[in-house]
Amino acid sequence: MTTEKHFDTIIDNIGQLLTMDHGDGPLKGEEMSKLKVSEHAALAIRDGLVAWIGTHEEAQSLKATERIDAEGKLVTPGLVDPHTHLVFGGSREHEMALKQQGVPYLEILKRGGGILSTVGATREASEEELLTKARFHLNRMISYGVTTVEAKSGYGLDRPTELKQLRVAKQLNESHPADIVSTFLGAHAIPPEFKGRSDEFLTEMLDLLNDIEKGQLAEFVDIFCETGVFTVEQSREFLKKAKEKGFSVKIHADEIDPLGGTEMATEIGATSGDHLVGASDKGIHALGETDTIAVLLPGTSFYLNKGKFANARGMMDAGAAVALSTDFNPGSSPTENLQFIMNLASLQLKMTPEEIWNAVTINAAYAINRGDSAGKLAPGRKADIVLWDVPNYHYVPYHYGVNHTHTVMKNGRIIYRKEKLHEHISAH
Ligand code: NIG
Ligand code: FE
Repeated sequence: MTTEKHFDTIIDNIGQLLTMDHGDGPLKGEEMSKLKVSEHAALAIRDGLVAWIGTHEEAQSLKATERIDAEGKLVTPGLVDPHTHLVFGGSREHEMALKQQGVPYLEILKRGGGILSTVGATREASEEELLTKARFHLNRMISYGVTTVEAKSGYGLDRPTELKQLRVAKQLNESHPADIVSTFLGAHAIPPEFKGRSDEFLTEMLDLLNDIEKGQLAEFVDIFCETGVFTVEQSREFLKKAKEKGFSVKIHADEIDPLGGTEMATEIGATSGDHLVGASDKGIHALGETDTIAVLLPGTSFYLNKGKFANARGMMDAGAAVALSTDFNPGSSPTENLQFIMNLASLQLKMTPEEIWNAVTINAAYAINRGDSAGKLAPGRKADIVLWDVPNYHYVPYHYGVNHTHTVMKNGRIIYRKEKLHEHISAH
């Protein structure tokens, strides 16, 4: 019997345990309010995997090398952040004044700033510099409870720099405990050398897919479908060709202007459509009818400050699967804090705590083809676990702007523990 075997670690005295173990597939529409909450629970780990889940009482007779007393805390799967621009050079704090003057995001880009300013800094940075910087941001994500991260390229817009960014993501995946899922976003903007020749630029980026495939440098292909960047038709053709080459596809759609990218994403069988702030009724309906996951990024709406957020409730009413993400990037969403996104989802997207937890775990995992390995705790699954310093799961989307994690585990090993105050302070 499993209970007689020895475990590596037992976490007992869990106040509330969320497993997200509600069957197969992403949760769609009404199913998103499902949440299995076990009180007074315990969980055992062996060889980096969840080996047993039961009650605190049952756990007392089990043997383990290490025992962690959760002290009544909330325990959940490690969070999954399914849309980030993790690898880039430089930063864009100098654009803050322009933002304050009301210069729109797309106008800054048109003037050669925005994404193109980061492209300059990323082209200049060495691979080593990019790796150090990306590791810094990734470590911060971990501290907020994230154990699996999607990372996009898209700040090279030329062969050497795009490949450099993708190699950095691959190196991070191999050298860091977090799991990284890589996306090629060469079609993120039109570089100055291709100004007025966007079709030629897309052909060049498609050509790069052969190298990417050979080096197994990315699993997804993405494109920024937006006014002044790539049209819906260009995006459709580009992603279709990427699919023919065997890549899964995603799309930055209807982020700023409502162009109809949402319905296009569903038509071509994209794994996810991301942003969708300006999604049409037709697009929202199509999300409910298909398997394309709506990855919503309320941090970007907050930071672009136009007062418009994605219609998450409408999408769930239509039967769509919704996931949430930071969109971590140096321009439209400079934050690694997925917990803040959970607060925004509550306040601005009117999502319930149950929907929010599913959106940052199991649905986020499906949005990056990791539904079978991340975002859920069950025997045989990876022991990616967060212990939260909160009394219940309603608390995280409620208490905003701070970090609620206590302990973060990846593959059964502790990779982050809440910093301790200096002795001098804690003594008083
Ligand atoms: O998801 N919109 C395109 N890409 C990012 C922003 C990138 C940037 O501003 O550097 C986004 O919002
Ligand atoms: Fe993005």
